[in-house]
Amino acid sequence: MTPPPPLSSAATIITFLTIIAATSPPPLRSTSSTLAVTSSTVCVIVAGQPTQTIQCYKNSHTLPISPNISFRSISAGADLLCGLISGGFSFLCWDPRNLLPKRIYYSYSNRLTDLTVGNSHVCAIQANNGEALCWRFPSPEVAWKFRTITSGGGFSCGILKNNSRVVCWGESEIGDEIQREFGNLTMWSIVAGVSHACGLTQTGILICKGSNSSGQLDVPSHLPFEFEGIAMGSNHSCAIQSKNGLVLCWGGGSRRSEFVRDELKYESFEAIEAGLDFICGLTTKNLSVICWGPGWSNGLSLLPLPMAIPGPCVQSSSCSICGVYPNSDSLCAGSGIICKSSSLKCQNSRTLRRQRSGTSTSSKQGDRVEKFSLTELGVATSNFSPENKIGRGSFGTVYRGELADGRKVAIKRGKRAVFKEGLSPMGVVEYAVPLIAAGELDSVLDKRVAPPDVREAEAVELVAYIAKHCVKLQGWQRPSITDIVANLERALALCEGGISSPTCYTDNSQ
Ligand SMILES: *[C@@H]1O[C@H](CO)[C@@H](O)[C@H](O)[C@H]1NC(C)=O
Ligand SMILES: *[C@@H]1O[C@H](CO)[C@@H](O)[C@H](O)[C@H]1NC(C)=O
Ligand SMILES: *[C@@H]1O[C@H](CO)[C@@H](O)[C@H](O)[C@H]1NC(C)=O
Ligand SMILES: *[C@@H]1O[C@H](CO)[C@@H](O)[C@H](O)[C@H]1NC(C)=O
Ligand SMILES: *[C@@H]1O[C@H](CO)[C@@H](O)[C@H](O)[C@H]1NC(C)=O
Ligand SMILES: *[C@@H]1O[C@H](CO)[C@@H](O)[C@H](O)[C@H]1NC(C)=O
Repeated sequence: MTPPPPLSSAATIITFLTIIAATSPPPLRSTSSTLAVTSSTVCVIVAGQPTQTIQCYKNSHTLPISPNISFRSISAGADLLCGLISGGFSFLCWDPRNLLPKRIYYSYSNRLTDLTVGNSHVCAIQANNGEALCWRFPSPEVAWKFRTITSGGGFSCGILKNNSRVVCWGESEIGDEIQREFGNLTMWSIVAGVSHACGLTQTGILICKGSNSSGQLDVPSHLPFEFEGIAMGSNHSCAIQSKNGLVLCWGGGSRRSEFVRDELKYESFEAIEAGLDFICGLTTKNLSVICWGPGWSNGLSLLPLPMAIPGPCVQSSSCSICGVYPNSDSLCAGSGIICKSSSLKCQNSRTLRRQRSGTSTSSKQGDRVEKFSLTELGVATSNFSPENKIGRGSFGTVYRGELADGRKVAIKRGKRAVFKEGLSPMGVVEYAVPLIAAGELDSVLDKRVAPPDVREAEAVELVAYIAKHCVKLQGWQRPSITDIVANLERALALCEGGISSPTCYTDNSQ
């Protein structure tokens, strides 16, 4: 991460605070991939054409897939590829060996979302009632209404609409185990591998459950907002890091190192999908596909597929939540626009935006840093008059104020906490954040206090990371108050010995 630049060169810093309201859980999300991977074939939905057709890479060749019609999303298991036709009223599947299409579902009125393919079976959610339907596989109980579903090896799992808990079904016992292990966690997303599943909790923490035969449950970070896109293979897991788009993989047993490639040190990805023992991603730079891993024939290659769309082309302006993908009208060639994937990160910024604009709905400044001169802030607070004082903390005084455009704000006027490190004095943020980011938390702790024990150290680390995220300059990078409270409670519980491992974290915010 990049440390925030100094906020002001003067001895006094002014921080623009947000007006805080209660946060609500993130809204519905649906899975709509435009990249799909079987054991031998990699497919994308092609960009820049009025018809969003599919092309696949197989045996070193790139092939157009018939029929030549528009698809909304594609999904694949080891030996089955399926595509949801634009509109969602029909889907087709192909055997990857011959790529001949078969129509599996057609309806005049019943739209589907979340088409998901496991090992040789396929499930989807009916948009009208949230029930899941499966083919070549048992459908789940009709009482279960889903927000999202995912299919793995002989099991499928979903997140229930009413309580955000995970339920699983299918013939494989691993599904029962995964459901039991997720227990009472309230989840925001879930993706299944062959015998494990990972997902983000509603507070943005990545958690994996199920088989750990090759260390695939060993998530490298339990901090909120570290990851967004996730993909699971037979015994590995990968995720896109929110801060830089780089892909991190774990598990894979003795072949773990083959998922780490020097060529990808700076390559940012929009989306990833896993094969059994390799991984493919859509690059941010030009939406082309790169695949790598122990099961990929050349170890790593850039596929000769055309540029892919990063999400479904949709008709209306239905992207109010997370905004529109840049340049998406040309990616869809006049047949719609692409919504930014509804990541937790942008859900969070939406919440912040709403909080910031108060009752006004026209605020566009939520995601931007706004700078105010001391004079402007003086005017807003009647020159920091005592009547406008609403609070006082160890780092400064908080004033109520009204900006020239009528927005009501809280303004913190702080004394700059100065640390002498070498010759030049510096603020607490500039001093501590880089050390925390470098994993040198010990060096910012007060040496006069006895060193923390193991659980306390974990709690201190959690608090330090919350602090680090809270001073990010961009609103969307900062956690919501719900998340902060949940994490502080967790830190407290750790100190009190109430929690034995990071993965047993539960969110009771509902
Ligand atoms: C698909 O159909 C469009 C017109 O609808 C046509 O322009 C295009 O060449 C066709 N592509 C293939 C691969 O047949
Ligand atoms: C949510 O739905 C499930 C399955 O239908 C049901 O068992 C559970 O009691 C419901 N929970 C709430 C809080 O409504
Ligand atoms: C899950 O929640 C229910 C009530 O909501 C409670 O009875 C049960 O003990 C909880 N289970 C765990 C493992 O915390
Ligand atoms: C998963 O396995 C790895 C070793 O391969 C182990 O270090 C780790 O503790 C295990 N994690 C869980 C959650 O069981
Ligand atoms: C991981 O899964 C692959 C099958 O995709 C298997 O060949 C390999 O042996 C597995 N590795 C380990 C360490 O279990
Ligand atoms: C994407 O960029 C790479 C170079 O980084 C280039 O080789 C490739 O042809 C580009 N792909 C597309 C679809 O433009």
